Amino acid sequence: MAGTNNPEFKSKITVYVLACWILAAFGGLMFGYDIGISGGVTAMDDFLIKFFPAVHERKLHAVEDNYCKYDDQYLQLFTSSLYLAALVSSFGASKACNILGRKPTILIASAFFLAGAAMSAAAEYKWMLILGRILFGIGVGFGNEAVPVFLSEIAPVQHRGAVNILFQLFITIGILIASLVNYATSTVHPYGWRLSLALAGAPATVLFVGSLIITETPTSLVERGNDKEGKAALKKIRGVDSVDDEYEQIKMACEQAKQVKHPFKKLMKRSSMPPLIIGIMLQVFQQFTGINAIMFYAPVLFQTVGFKNDASLLSAVITGIVNVGSTFVSIYAVDKVGRRKLLLQACVQMFIAQAAIGGILLVQLKPTGSLDKGLAAVVVVLVCLFVMSFAWSWGPLGWLIPSETFPLETRTAGFAFAVSSNMLCTFFIAQAFLSMMCNMKAFIFFFFSAWILVMGLFVVFLVPETKGVPIDNMVERVWKQHPVWKKFID
Ligand code: BGC
Repeated sequence: MAGTNNPEFKSKITVYVLACWILAAFGGLMFGYDIGISGGVTAMDDFLIKFFPAVHERKLHAVEDNYCKYDDQYLQLFTSSLYLAALVSSFGASKACNILGRKPTILIASAFFLAGAAMSAAAEYKWMLILGRILFGIGVGFGNEAVPVFLSEIAPVQHRGAVNILFQLFITIGILIASLVNYATSTVHPYGWRLSLALAGAPATVLFVGSLIITETPTSLVERGNDKEGKAALKKIRGVDSVDDEYEQIKMACEQAKQVKHPFKKLMKRSSMPPLIIGIMLQVFQQFTGINAIMFYAPVLFQTVGFKNDASLLSAVITGIVNVGSTFVSIYAVDKVGRRKLLLQACVQMFIAQAAIGGILLVQLKPTGSLDKGLAAVVVVLVCLFVMSFAWSWGPLGWLIPSETFPLETRTAGFAFAVSSNMLCTFFIAQAFLSMMCNMKAFIFFFFSAWILVMGLFVVFLVPETKGVPIDNMVERVWKQHPVWKKFID
């Protein structure tokens, strides 16, 4: 097959393609904003008084126990309902990606984000609030399904990792912006929370306009029978005229994909197991690093170790900055050192950080009272070390690897399983973390360390290196060569 052994298809980075990458990555910013905004909003008194008066009462008269201050199922449900909606809608999004294309799916996502921002900012009753969260959630389902696949498909092979990681970079920027917004709006009474929720409309508008400007991916065009447009789109995004080799490879992948009438059925076949298992497990493991315990509840966590309100919000901003900064390391390294080394290095660093936090809290933090200042600072540093290593490994690669390892015929269906596994586990952590912390106390951090050990072993034995392999050539070059997974391929 033309070009099969030549991953270095010709390409230039044009202004237009750069704009496509960045505009699509705004889908990540929306997701990040949603992750980052709810923790701060649920801590605002005005918000609690309006929608959760009983929780507010309890907060005022809480019996002080360091690990249990904020344990409340309804409050956690406000945060987590979004992920349930995203979980379900990612399957619809997979269908939309196939039938309509990646570009319209991103447009649909932005429309839901806009509706969600309007509904939740205008909320007068609890049902409006929850409906707003559900609309956001559907946006996340559509956006998280379409954007990583879009980025992986339009990226030149030698930069695919870096381009795809723009999605994660924008997630981290969204989280950081949300924590800054909350910091500012928490002093605006009584409508600060409305501002926080309404401001999601700004990036949603950029995504909406952006989705009209970006190209459809050549793969999606050819897959739906528009060969001419597909080739033209390929020339446009590669910035060169000589795209025949790459076009042939896309064409061949599409021919093969056309034989498969029911992608979800095909996905259940033995030969689809390698990318499916990897895609699902990377997302499950990503969440069981404990990252969202920190992203959602960093202010609560820092209060737990004894910081005052302001100092803990500030610490959350610091972890947010570390999160953004470290993602650049990944963009730089992923196509040079490869995926596996990043994942393994991070396992070591994350394990040490989580175990050390657990150790300090176990020995030093009593149910009432707080850590001494020096130790509390050490905890903040350890949290930063943890976030840092997550940000250059499991964060971005949890999205990158599942978007690049499925053959075209099962790509969007398989990726939907990865997205929904992420959402399910995020839901679980969002819903359960505060109760787990209340019950398990410092041991919660050992719980996460144990998961990190298991995921390290998983990478050693089962995760193949996909650096530099053309996206439509994974079966031959990756799965058929892997000592374990080759047994699954016919
Ligand atoms: C994860 C999110 C997490 C974020 C942190 C993403 O890759 O999917 O759950 O909050 O990284 O930056």
